Amino acid sequence: MKFFIDTANLAQIKEAQDLGVLDGVTTNPSLMAKEGISGEENVLNHYKAICEIVDGDVSAEVISTDFEGMVREGEALAALDEKIVVKIPMVKDGVKALKYFSDKGIKTNCTLIFSAGQALLAAKAGATYVSPFIGRLDDISTDGLGLIESIRVIFDNYGFDTEILAASVRHPMHIIECAQIGADVMTGPLSAIEALLKHPLTDIGLAKFLADHAKANS
Ligand code: G3P
Repeated sequence: MKFFIDTANLAQIKEAQDLGVLDGVTTNPSLMAKEGISGEENVLNHYKAICEIVDGDVSAEVISTDFEGMVREGEALAALDEKIVVKIPMVKDGVKALKYFSDKGIKTNCTLIFSAGQALLAAKAGATYVSPFIGRLDDISTDGLGLIESIRVIFDNYGFDTEILAASVRHPMHIIECAQIGADVMTGPLSAIEALLKHPLTDIGLAKFLADHAKANS
């Protein structure tokens, strides 16, 4: 399973990249705003800065909700770097834009997926990735991981190349369960990735090894 980091924070992206397990980055307009990035030129420059850090796909989301606007924005984003994946919301014009970019060989990530039907439609339109938001479904007492399972079955039934990018991942168990189900990619915060490192028996065991070594060498 590929690990993407879901942030526009350059320091966190660098930290994840330095860990050696990062396969890509996802951003969205809220994450860009959180970093104080505004204005077309600053936004484009920020995406370029992300692409310089990371080895892998970088999802950059369009703001337009009409086909012409999505095409105009998506082409400008895709021209920045070959790592850019144009992130498009699951709306009617978005489906048309997915098909347009797919036909042009430009990678896409269909975002705001909350049902298997939406994922199927995006896959049929040629999306490179679909992003089901599992945390936000869990937030409303709905089974986010169940949605990943359903999409996995559908994509496998018909051999879709579209990758399932589990988004809105909040904690390490989301990552582990996504891997068990067979999500192709997960995107989450650095804290969830780093939480995979932790186990109290590892800490206890290491402390004992170091204490025994120190005793034997004193
Ligand atoms: O990038 C989309 C998604 O990962 C957002 O996550 O935590 O805001 O629901 P969250």
